Amino acid sequence: MNYLENLFSLEGRTALVTGGSSGIGLMMAEALVMAGADVIITARKEAECVAAVERLNALGGSGKADAILADLSKEEQLLALCRQIEQRWDALSILVNNAGRNWGAPFGKVPYKSWESVFALNVTAPFALCQELLPLLERGGRPDDPARVINTGSSSGILPLGNNAFSYSASKASIHHLTRVLARELAGHNITVNAISPGPFDSRMMKLATPDETAYEVVRDMVPLKRWGNASDIAGAMLFLCGLGGAFVTGTIIPVDGGVATNCGDEPQKQRG
Ligand SMILES: NC(=O)c1ccc[n+]([C@@H]2O[C@H](COP(=O)([O-])OP(=O)(O)OC[C@H]3O[C@@H](n4cnc5c(N)ncnc54)[C@H](OP(=O)(O)O)[C@@H]3O)[C@@H](O)[C@H]2O)c1
Repeated sequence: MNYLENLFSLEGRTALVTGGSSGIGLMMAEALVMAGADVIITARKEAECVAAVERLNALGGSGKADAILADLSKEEQLLALCRQIEQRWDALSILVNNAGRNWGAPFGKVPYKSWESVFALNVTAPFALCQELLPLLERGGRPDDPARVINTGSSSGILPLGNNAFSYSASKASIHHLTRVLARELAGHNITVNAISPGPFDSRMMKLATPDETAYEVVRDMVPLKRWGNASDIAGAMLFLCGLGGAFVTGTIIPVDGGVATNCGDEPQKQRG
């Protein structure tokens, strides 16, 4: 094994990626398959999952992909997914809690129940998966090469942007905090817990938020590096956090956001020069 392979190869690892059929989750699954991991993606829509698995298996990586359908906002489906994973694998090396949803409505018009649905998927499901899959994760890690939990946060969980996404922002701040809490809890089990906090990336969710070119450019201009993120930005963070090179890192929230988390209110002034 050469130097880079030793640090970042995921040959022989097993990985579950929630929301792996689309957007950032699919980018994460691509990085894992290309680095050699066997990956199960999970999402609700069968056609999207089938297409994503075909795409992942056609990449030419040494890992393989498969899918299991589940609505992770529903307890019984989450538990059924965990039982299927246990039947398939003795050990889980990498759990990626990426599936997420938004609920946009102006202040005063946010339905009470919508909070529950956002938190169920964005916060409750990642916690429940960690709890249910603990025995598998314990068997997937060693003191010098722990099992990895990667949560997908958001720059909305760092900056109080609002943007009519009140429950979403609060849920993302919550998953960042839960990342640090679980990092402490699971360190003694040879499991690290970290989060990637993305800035804007092209995805189904972001297509709804930025339906036209003007909206796309407005979001781009909020990014200090003046672009949207792409698959290699996600892949770099994933390989660092999942490979041997990231084995000593836990409880971190890594912004992969072109600098969005450094914004502090003087952006229009800076743009004027
Ligand atoms: N894109 C961005 O700019 C951005 C920025 C910061 C953070 N994020 C975060 O990145 C993560 C992925 O979002 P994305 O932007 O890539 O959106 P996306 O393209 O809409 O992908 C969302 C994924 O989650 C799955 N999903 C949605 N509801 C689910 C449920 N109830 N149970 C199981 N799976 C479900 C979707 O598949 P099904 O619909 O088939 O279930 C899909 O695979 C989210 O946590 C999001 O908050 C995104």
